Amino acid sequence: MLKYAHIIGWGSYLPDRILTNQELAKTVDTNDEWIRARTGIHQRHIAASNETTATIAFEAAARALDVAQINPSEIGLIIVATSTPEYVFPSTACRVQDYLGARRAGAFDLSAACTGFVYALSMAANAIATESVNSVLVIGTETMSRVLDWQDRSTCILFGDGAGAIVLRGSSVPGGVMSSILRSDGSGGDLLRLPTVYNTAIPVLKGSYVNGHHESNTIEMDGRQVFRFATKVVANVIADAVTKAGLTMDDIDLIIPHQANSRIIESAAKKLKISTDRFYMNIAQVGNTSAASIPLALCDAVAERQLKPDNNVVFVGFGGGLTWGASVVKWDVTPPDMEERGSEWRRTRYVAARARSKLRQWQRKTSARLAGSPTPEARLKDADKQGTIAAGDNKERNQSIKKD
Ligand code: COA
Repeated sequence: MLKYAHIIGWGSYLPDRILTNQELAKTVDTNDEWIRARTGIHQRHIAASNETTATIAFEAAARALDVAQINPSEIGLIIVATSTPEYVFPSTACRVQDYLGARRAGAFDLSAACTGFVYALSMAANAIATESVNSVLVIGTETMSRVLDWQDRSTCILFGDGAGAIVLRGSSVPGGVMSSILRSDGSGGDLLRLPTVYNTAIPVLKGSYVNGHHESNTIEMDGRQVFRFATKVVANVIADAVTKAGLTMDDIDLIIPHQANSRIIESAAKKLKISTDRFYMNIAQVGNTSAASIPLALCDAVAERQLKPDNNVVFVGFGGGLTWGASVVKWDVTPPDMEERGSEWRRTRYVAARARSKLRQWQRKTSARLAGSPTPEARLKDADKQGTIAAGDNKERNQSIKKD
């Protein structure tokens, strides 16, 4: 029998540091009025130097587990949607698995840019429906501030950092994720992209010069084209997901869209012939946090009591790829009394999980040393001494850097 995937926990994390439009206008040619009028953004949060995409994801996940009141060992799968992982591998999901001590969980990252959360939610619901797992942690997390060209006023004003997480659990009770629609159009990939350091013939390190170009791994965007794409797809995919769930727009209580630009939402509301009040917006406070934006908005909507049991909510995302998608979810939980959640006890477990992880690393190093094999650090040092790096030929790279 197919199972229903219900949202039983949610949590978010925003870095403390707030960057206002006024502050931004001191370093780049822009102003508060323009940003507010053209995007709806007033401020964004910026990760501290000791925060990473994985650490903020962990904070959001820990809060979601507190609400769900389940232990990390009950999680069968962790899916992290992100475009700003610290590493191509290990995945951010594996790092979160380690921080949580989720010892029975599979873990992987999912790349669908700003639609990542909707894609991950759909994958998680399918995994639950087919009973391959019963509890899934879905996280959207980004440190967009690290991939922005802070001199490019067409992009740096838009994005912010943050993380949001939900816990999904299988049940035979109808409800939860009712439908999902996922779409893509790779022909528009060049409209919004984030190159990696690996996308040239000569692998380079961040910040190097190759063939006369500064190898950027910052976001590149054709804002007008992306705007046009978004206004074309958002209303349609919402309508399709609602129909697929066997509902009509009148049955929908709240739409939680990806927070990219308030004008995109206004256009979608107009096309659907509904009031913009039916869309939840927190873009003014957080900016565009890419894959984190929908779960962050969900947490704010719950905190503001905009969701009640038996409400039907639509999540809709769009972004790089191009990708877009929507899910209809029956909301069936009342926010719990957090006093009774035992979060302190769970926090102690995370400290223990980190200690166990460190111990396992130490054991691995010790047994390697005893067996006479070099440690990973020694291997890297050795490779560097020989003038090679794992990614390719350093010599060729250095020559082209010198030419510039
Ligand atoms: N501050 C002040 N002026 C700016 C500016 C800024 N940050 N950015 C652009 N301008 C200027 C332009 O130079 C241009 O000036 P001109 O008329 O003298 O030539 C004018 O404002 C209009 O520029 P334009 O690029 O047409 O602005 P826009 O109304 O399209 O708004 C975006 C730009 C980026 C806000 C808008 O295109 C957008 O939101 N696109 C979608 C981006 C997005 O959501 N990406 C993520 C998707 S997940």
